[in-house]
Amino acid sequence: MNIAVILAGGVGNRLGMNKPKQFLKVAGKTVFEHTVDAFQKHNKIDEIFVVMHASYVHDAEDMVMKNNWTKVKKVLNGGSERYESSLAAINACVDENVNLIFHDAVRPLVSERIIDDVVEALAQYDAVDVAVPAVDTIIALDESKKFIKDIPNRNFLNRGQTPQGFKYQIIKQAYDIALQDPDFTATDDCGIVRKYLPEVPVYVVDGEERNVKLTYPEDIYLLDKLFQLKSATLSDAINLHDLQDKVMVVFGGNSGIGKDMVEIARQYGAKAYAFSRSATGTDIVDVASVEKALADVCQQEGKIDYVVNSAAILNKEPLMHLDADTIKRIIDINYLGMVNVTRAAYEYVKKSKGQLLQFTSSSYTRGRAYYSLYSSTKAAVVNFVQAMAEEWEEDGIRMNCINPQRTKTPMRVANFGIEPDNTLLKSEDVAVVSLKTLLSGFTGEVVDVKIK
Ligand code: CTP
Repeated sequence: MNIAVILAGGVGNRLGMNKPKQFLKVAGKTVFEHTVDAFQKHNKIDEIFVVMHASYVHDAEDMVMKNNWTKVKKVLNGGSERYESSLAAINACVDENVNLIFHDAVRPLVSERIIDDVVEALAQYDAVDVAVPAVDTIIALDESKKFIKDIPNRNFLNRGQTPQGFKYQIIKQAYDIALQDPDFTATDDCGIVRKYLPEVPVYVVDGEERNVKLTYPEDIYLLDKLFQLKSATLSDAINLHDLQDKVMVVFGGNSGIGKDMVEIARQYGAKAYAFSRSATGTDIVDVASVEKALADVCQQEGKIDYVVNSAAILNKEPLMHLDADTIKRIIDINYLGMVNVTRAAYEYVKKSKGQLLQFTSSSYTRGRAYYSLYSSTKAAVVNFVQAMAEEWEEDGIRMNCINPQRTKTPMRVANFGIEPDNTLLKSEDVAVVSLKTLLSGFTGEVVDVKIK
């Protein structure tokens, strides 16, 4: 059995906020929640122990309920040193035949792959660390801390991260010996095994640069950006047949990806309705026409589960060549239209506990010359989706956006001309990913669709 121990007993002095750094919010949730989620979702983790600073144990228990973390079996009081928090988890463990996998609560971007590798390595080794190569030259200082004493060979230097995994008996034994040592100084858990059980090899699994530890104020910006760039991976278990009897409204559903979503959803038994300027005279810039479309569908079907907005325009032209009306039109459709659809959909998706889906573009991370308005409004889509997913979380409304790489759509062909088919995504493939996202539990996510 694999038990993850989430160490959240610290207060985060170096970050210097008025609450422990694990409670900082990023991408809609606290750092602590992102971290626990990573282990709750991992199929090789059986149980989770949370070790929390004593003043915040109640907050942690509330979060366990709110997030429905079924694997969290204990919320323990931490100690004043990190090693005491680890020890709290070791002492709370009743089964001797388990692996304990310690992880810093302030490393929310730990990947499924790292956890997998640690668990796998524990089948062979008693102690496992996670580390990345040292990119900077590491210099050892003399006693005065003002002069270099030594420059160790960088080839053999790595920076330790977490998780750190151990067979229960090994970490227990290492701590038993360490606590007898009058000269014991705190290090991390692998350090304790190295020092007090030197015959036990500690195997090292590859870490990742993005598995950062929130430590200094600058890390908040880094984490924010890394979360923004993180794309969600859809589960293979999602079955499009679950669209049966779902009611979906697609604005911009007369061409491209929106049209394909409608057609495919119908094949799977959904009630899919397409609205567009050309086919139904529905203009998303006009609030009344959006409201009417939704009201009509709801009257017909009695509910609306999903509202999708695939309407957008792209004019590939230098900014100075665009006239004022065109500029207004692009901003209106790509930005105001999204806001209108979102607001008009609120009551319906709140009632159905449904989802709103928007589309961004790979240009959201970096603006592109000659379509500055398109790329900047698509950056706004991501920001807006993240904000609204958080704002409406309590209402049970989910909101996500799809980030397709270049896709063969009429809009693309009109702006870029002939491009080889093997460099473009098929619109139907993007539509399938989009429909699967509707069936997923995601919210506030950017779901990338890439050419395989
Ligand atoms: N930790 C813990 N118990 C402690 C100290 C730290 O469980 N007594 C946890 C922290 O909550 C964090 C992880 O160990 O998730 C890594 O520690 P660190 O980054 O040093 O956290 P803090 O001690 O909170 O930060 P600082 O050193 O800046 O005060």
